[in-house]
Amino acid sequence: MPSNYTGACKPGSFKAFAGNTKCSKCPPHSSSHDQAATVCHCDKSFFRALKDPSTMACTRPPSAPRNVVSLINDTALFLQWMPPRDSGDRKDLTYNVLCQRCDTADSGLTQCEPCEPDLRFIPKALGLTGTSVAILEYAVHANYTFHVEALNGVSGLGVAARSLANITVNTHQAGPALVGVVRKDWATENSIALSWEQVEQPPADIVDYEVKYYEREQEQLSYSSTRTRTASVVVTGLRPSTVYVFHVRTRTTAGFTAYSPNFEFSTAAEDPDVADQGQVLVMVTASVGGFSLLVILTLFLLITGRCQGYIKARMKSEEKRRTRFHSGHVPFSGIKTYVDPDTYEDPTQAVEEFAKEIDPSYICIERVIGAGEFGEVCSGRLRLPGRMDVPVAIKTLKGGYSEQQRRDFLREASIMGQFCCTNIIRLEGVVTNSRPVMIVVEYMENGALDSFLRSRDGQFTVLQLVDMLRGITVGMTYLSDMGYVHRDLAARNILVDKNLVCKVSDFGMSRVLEDDSEAAYTATGGKIPIRWTAPEAIAYGKFSSASDVWSYGIVMWEVMSYGERPYWEMSNQDVILSIEEGYRLPAPMGCPVTLHQLMLHCWQKEAGQRPNFTDVLSFLDKLIINPGSLLTLANDAQSLTDSPEDLPDYPLFISIGDWLDSIKMSQYKNNFLAAGYTTLDSISTMNTDDIRRIGICLIGHQRRIISSIQSLRLQLHHIQQNGFQV
Ligand code: ADE
Repeated sequence: MPSNYTGACKPGSFKAFAGNTKCSKCPPHSSSHDQAATVCHCDKSFFRALKDPSTMACTRPPSAPRNVVSLINDTALFLQWMPPRDSGDRKDLTYNVLCQRCDTADSGLTQCEPCEPDLRFIPKALGLTGTSVAILEYAVHANYTFHVEALNGVSGLGVAARSLANITVNTHQAGPALVGVVRKDWATENSIALSWEQVEQPPADIVDYEVKYYEREQEQLSYSSTRTRTASVVVTGLRPSTVYVFHVRTRTTAGFTAYSPNFEFSTAAEDPDVADQGQVLVMVTASVGGFSLLVILTLFLLITGRCQGYIKARMKSEEKRRTRFHSGHVPFSGIKTYVDPDTYEDPTQAVEEFAKEIDPSYICIERVIGAGEFGEVCSGRLRLPGRMDVPVAIKTLKGGYSEQQRRDFLREASIMGQFCCTNIIRLEGVVTNSRPVMIVVEYMENGALDSFLRSRDGQFTVLQLVDMLRGITVGMTYLSDMGYVHRDLAARNILVDKNLVCKVSDFGMSRVLEDDSEAAYTATGGKIPIRWTAPEAIAYGKFSSASDVWSYGIVMWEVMSYGERPYWEMSNQDVILSIEEGYRLPAPMGCPVTLHQLMLHCWQKEAGQRPNFTDVLSFLDKLIINPGSLLTLANDAQSLTDSPEDLPDYPLFISIGDWLDSIKMSQYKNNFLAAGYTTLDSISTMNTDDIRRIGICLIGHQRRIISSIQSLRLQLHHIQQNGFQV
């Protein structure tokens, strides 16, 4: 048969080898201008790598990586970034992390030079295929500038500028201890007064000091900590004749510095007279009966369970009690315990005990930022004499309240006032002696976590989201260690400050968890946030720290899905039934598989099989130290069924148009139809890659659509199990 392919190739086509083969059209981004071309030359700014075949499209270097962010702790600095918007149409993308250290001389000139050779990059600095790196052995008080460069097989072939994204990190926050020697000023049987001096000028304004202490013999099995704004503190609630280990660190506006060395001080020996008096008291108590003992125990817990912030106000009542509790017959664990304000005959006393009364003339209200259950929430400033202004949020109790409403309102303050933890909202004080009655707390610039995430959809790296979760875990670990059950843990009850630090708030719902491993509060009705609540708490009111862990799993899901509503639009009843059947929320789009596994662990049916908050914290820390563990993403839409073929046939009640309208994505209707997705059936099999392939590029839109597809699948699953209910 005669050959058809003997002619010379026309411009725009080429034939690599002479002979009886067809001319091929020039691959994308290349052209041939002459007849009989054996190769197509790349267009301007496009290239072929040495190993690229001539049939391959010409490609170009990638654009710069995006959103480089840093996280720093005492030992490691983490960088994470997002892939470039343009990969140059190649799959061989890698990254180099280049480092410079820039110091400012006394003359004011900043000089940069390559970083110290002993800086360690984990896994490596050059040729990274992932989008994160950990850096160890960095110097403190230094400014490092990191250049993250995106490269592919054709980088360096043209004259284009390198594709770099830069970030400057200062390591001040992990700086050395600013506190040198800690002195003991005086000690009694139950308290030690300490003071210290700065050894170095702080790199930023001092916010306060954290004093950590524990019994030497306990070797840090448990420790307590307290905060003070001045360079001295009186630590109370200690055991007589006991050696304590103390160390102090400074919190500046740039973060914590390192701890001072350890200092050991002993409390004074017990006064035998007082001890005898105590023994008599215990005997009398025993004869008066269990009720008195309960009161004494409660009061004892009060002493051990308070924050140090308002030392002066407390010292008087402390002194009053001291003689009553010096018997040494009541064991003291050193761990603070939460005291339920409801155990006070007069709850006003609990407020007096745990919350500082603020003179209203020190409060400057600036604007209304929301509406609470009891009245408006405002932002403003607290101007205590001799102190820096503090931005605050002020909850007000609206006029015309009943005595019961006033108590309920202030109950939250008497709970909050017992906590002292970076990840729990801090109570500044209350106004109860004048109108309006107010609760003043620290101001959190970014408001509630759920709405914050919704407004910043897709804008954080996984590591940043995990760091937010870590903060919540620290707060919840503290609460559960104190025996406090939150009962309403949800992203809407987490507040976020300007540095993205998350703090647990909203203590209205809680009840005491008594000092009994079996004891958990049983609800007698009342409103329960179904989607966040563990099945045993819904079914028979068994609230516990383990049920808080279930809610925490839901918060993890809210965070990783940027504030999506758990179980979407399903009714509460359907949620309860689905959970009972064993259904669990699928991994949100872009969620690492390790995090989804942790969520599933928190949602174990048996409360005893769930992790506790300490377990969750150590798990998250391991992930943060090894960010590679966050790289494998869960298989979004595929996770509900093993394969798309398993999907049930189900009635299609709505059209694609209606569905897209309902999620405000109707602009993409043609994308689905043009790609052949003409039924909701076929759409329900789509995953993120499919969504991307049909031209939906905005991450936020991809997320909303994938999330809605998951919701569709969930509802189908439910219909399949239960039949369709109108
Ligand atoms: N809304 C409620 N409490 C708040 C707080 N502490 N800071 C900012 N917004 C709030």
